[in-house]
Amino acid sequence: MRIILLGPPGAGKGTQAKRIEERYEIPQLSTGDLLRDAAKRKTPLGTEAKAYMDEGRLVPDPLVVGLIVERMGLPDCASGFILDGFPRTVGQAESLEKELDRKKSPIAAVICLRVDREKLIERLVGRRICPKGHGEYHLRFRPPKIEGRCDVCQTELVQREDDQEDKIRTRMKAYETETAPLIEFYRDRGLLKPIEAGGTVDSTTQQIESALNAA
Ligand code: AP5
Repeated sequence: MRIILLGPPGAGKGTQAKRIEERYEIPQLSTGDLLRDAAKRKTPLGTEAKAYMDEGRLVPDPLVVGLIVERMGLPDCASGFILDGFPRTVGQAESLEKELDRKKSPIAAVICLRVDREKLIERLVGRRICPKGHGEYHLRFRPPKIEGRCDVCQTELVQREDDQEDKIRTRMKAYETETAPLIEFYRDRGLLKPIEAGGTVDSTTQQIESALNAA
C-alpha cells in the first residue's frame, strides 16, 4: 500500500503517519525528518536545505526528489510506504508519478487533512521537542511532567526553529501557493480522500482508516 499524506503545517501528518505505520506495517517516509537528519549530520545537502527550512521556505525540488527516491528504493519500502510531507509542489508530484509509473507501483490513496488556520497555529507555536530525539510535547495538548523538561531524559525542551510565528506564516503561505494545487492534481486522478482533521488524534485516525479500507 502506497499512501500520500497531504495537508498544511500542523495538520497532523507526522502524528497520523506514525499510527498508519504501526497499523499497516509500512514505513513512514517524512521529507521533513530526512532533511532535518541531513542538516544535523551537516551533509552538503543538509547544510543547503537548512537555510531554506529555518526560514520556513520549501527546499528546491531537485534536492528533495533525489532524497526521497533514494529512500523509496530501500528494501523496507517493497510492500509500501506512507509519504509524509512529500510531494509538496506539482513538480515533485510529477517526478513521483514518473518514478512510480516506471516501477509499476501506483499510489493507492492521497489522504488530505483539513484543519482551521487558528488551530494549526496553536498546534505549532505550542510544540516543544526533546533535542535528544525522545519525541514531541505540546504546552497545552501534551505537556511534559516537569515543565520544560523531557519526560525521558529531563533535557530542556526546545522549539523547532521554524515553529516561531513569523516562520509559521511563511510555511502557511508556501502551502497555499505551492502545495494546495496538489488537491486538484490528485482529485483529477481519483485518489483524493479529504479528512476533517481538526478534532482529536483518535477521531482523525478513525476517518483515515475508513478511507483506506474503502480505497
Ligand atoms: P515538515 O517537517 O514536513 O513540517 P510541516 O509540513 O510544516 O509539518 P509539521 O511537522 O510541522 O506538521 P504535521 O502536519 O506533520 O503535524 P504534526 O503531526 O507534527 O517540513 C519542515 C520543512 O522541511 C518545510 O518547511 C520545508 O522547508 C522542508 N521540506 C519538507 N518536505 C519538503 C518537500 N517535500 N519539499 C520542499 N521542502 C520540504 O503535528 C503538529 C503538532 O500538533 C504537534 O505538536 C502534534 O502533537 C499536534 N497535533 C497533531 N494532531 C493533533 C490533534 N488532532 N489535536 C491536537 N494536537 C495535535
